[in-house]
Amino acid sequence: MNDLHNGGPVVALVPAAGRGVRLGESMPKAFVAVGGISMVRLAVDGLIASRAVDRVVVMVPAEFVESAVALLPPSDSVRVVIGGAERTDSVRAGIDAAPDASYFLVHDAARALTPPELIARVAAELRAGHRAVVPALPVTDTIKSVDAHGGVTGTPDRAGLRAIQTPQGFAADLLRAAYATDVHATDDAGLVELLGTQVRTIPGDPLAFKITTPLDLLLAHAVLEGMDARTS
Ligand code: C5P
Repeated sequence: MNDLHNGGPVVALVPAAGRGVRLGESMPKAFVAVGGISMVRLAVDGLIASRAVDRVVVMVPAEFVESAVALLPPSDSVRVVIGGAERTDSVRAGIDAAPDASYFLVHDAARALTPPELIARVAAELRAGHRAVVPALPVTDTIKSVDAHGGVTGTPDRAGLRAIQTPQGFAADLLRAAYATDVHATDDAGLVELLGTQVRTIPGDPLAFKITTPLDLLLAHAVLEGMDARTS
């Protein structure tokens, strides 16, 4: 699978064990179909198509292991394990399932339309020696901090803010060290930052958006339809 052979295996960890309550569907979000194909399958297909990943570990809810195995490509390179209650628990389960990894790409199943080219760019940065690499986009909205009552407490300069996507890439020893601590962060890079490691950003891609709400799902359908119309 992997075009870049120096430096050991790249293992992609795909957290797909979330309940996805905000999407309003009856099944876990990663199993919801976009254009007839489940998000988790689309995400795994994108990782394989990048040709930058040696193996994929997908973390799903315990009762969805069988259906995930049936949905995913039958390959020795793709493995399904049981995720956990929080996203960090799911990622930890994936790390434990890949003790020989040299690099990890942590990639949300919910970013199902991420272009393979972006995945390959993150992996290439890791191979080039950067130990923590995340795709980032400028923010278009003004962002404010608020207190518990919704009162505005500050307006950070938008020019210095970025929205962070996945895949997030890490040297494997660094991600293992980050997960050995018991601190919490909303993304994997946040845990690595707490260790004092510099995280590098590279330009993200709007197609790597996270499918979270019913509106995102509509957008994903429309994007796929647009792509089909262009290729047929
Ligand atoms: O809920 P959110 O959209 O932030 O979840 C991001 C990704 O993390 C999703 O792909 C979701 O399936 C995954 N996740 C997980 N285990 C959890 C919670 C979320 O694998 N306990």
